[in-house]
Amino acid sequence: MERVHVRASRDYDVLIGEGLLAGCGGEIAAVTASRRCALVTDSTVAPLYARRVEDSLRQAGMDVCTYVFPAGEQSKTLATYGAILGFLAENRLTRSDFVAALGGGVAGDMAGFAAATYQRGIDYIQLPTTFLAASDSSVGGKTAVDLPAGKNLAGAFWPPRLVVCDCAAFSTLPADTFADGVAETLKHGLIADRDFFDFLMRQPIRDHLPAVVRRNVEIKAAVVAEDEFESGKRKLLNFGHTLGHAIEKCSGYTVTHGHAVAVGMVLAARAAERLGLSPKGTLETVLAGNRRYGLPTECAYTAEELYDAATGDKKRRGGKIDVVVLEEIGRAKTIPLDMDGLRAFVEAAL
Ligand code: NAD
Ligand code: GLY
Repeated sequence: MERVHVRASRDYDVLIGEGLLAGCGGEIAAVTASRRCALVTDSTVAPLYARRVEDSLRQAGMDVCTYVFPAGEQSKTLATYGAILGFLAENRLTRSDFVAALGGGVAGDMAGFAAATYQRGIDYIQLPTTFLAASDSSVGGKTAVDLPAGKNLAGAFWPPRLVVCDCAAFSTLPADTFADGVAETLKHGLIADRDFFDFLMRQPIRDHLPAVVRRNVEIKAAVVAEDEFESGKRKLLNFGHTLGHAIEKCSGYTVTHGHAVAVGMVLAARAAERLGLSPKGTLETVLAGNRRYGLPTECAYTAEELYDAATGDKKRRGGKIDVVVLEEIGRAKTIPLDMDGLRAFVEAAL
């Protein structure tokens, strides 16, 4: 088992290995004195892994109650979030109890937001079961739900107490869902670590899962340690996200986050190269990463549709919106654009 320490407003560890869910109760008992847990999971993950986690928690001497919501981004709403809060209250969880989020980024973001706000904040544990959640969303303490106006518009920064990444759980992921995590993995290489990106282009990710998750977590942890609340460097993690979130919204959330980010990175690379903000060849490198792992490269929406969706994005500051561009492979920077600049960027992206 690997362990990565995350420095944040409250430090925590990320454990990475194969088969860790079966022993997660002992690891959780080591970081909390609480003996009551509300397990929050989705309808696909529950029949696969909930029993294993419940048994392990009970073996560690804990009481467990389990809440299951319908799987998918369409559930990441105020309504489901409200239902989770109601469940915590009905089960009389107190401030010294904790929530465990079992599943992908949707379970983690939503259960994390419930934990951040229930009785003004209780502890939570992340038990990611998608490659994306293990490599990205379970680390860093961003929690949220979507609003009709856009992605993740209601949320909080709330660090978990512990993250347990069981890479064996990825064996049951559909190929497309695994690829969602590949998109965020390529992103980490593109923005922060050229050697890692080159490794991903030489080696099949599936042959190196714990090592790849570990590098993803290290890259994200380093950024979060410097800028937990996204006033500066953390914005770099949003490479491909301004237009990626716009694609998700335009599709009514039928395009998954990872697939939307994959296309968003291509669009950002094309626009930046055309506008002279990234060196020539950047777009070709981003395209090569997507093609190698079967990720999409084409956008189904017009510049007007993307612009309208992106201007509702919460990354807008006053009259400005931040976009991330690659200075070279492995190094990124943020560019604040006014609304005319964003329009020009979106038009250059297509
Ligand atoms: P998800 O949680 O919807 O999971 C994808 C699908 O895989 C779901 O149908 C789920 O039921 C299923 N699934 C999960 N684990 C499985 C397993 N082991 N075997 C079989 N099926 C399994 O989506 P995701 O891609 O994990 O996460 C995307 C979400 O994460 C988005 O809402 C995105 O905004 C968010 N996100 C948050 C952050 C952050 O920093 N908080 C970062 C990136 C993404
Ligand atoms: N996924 C972007 C972040 O965690 O900041």
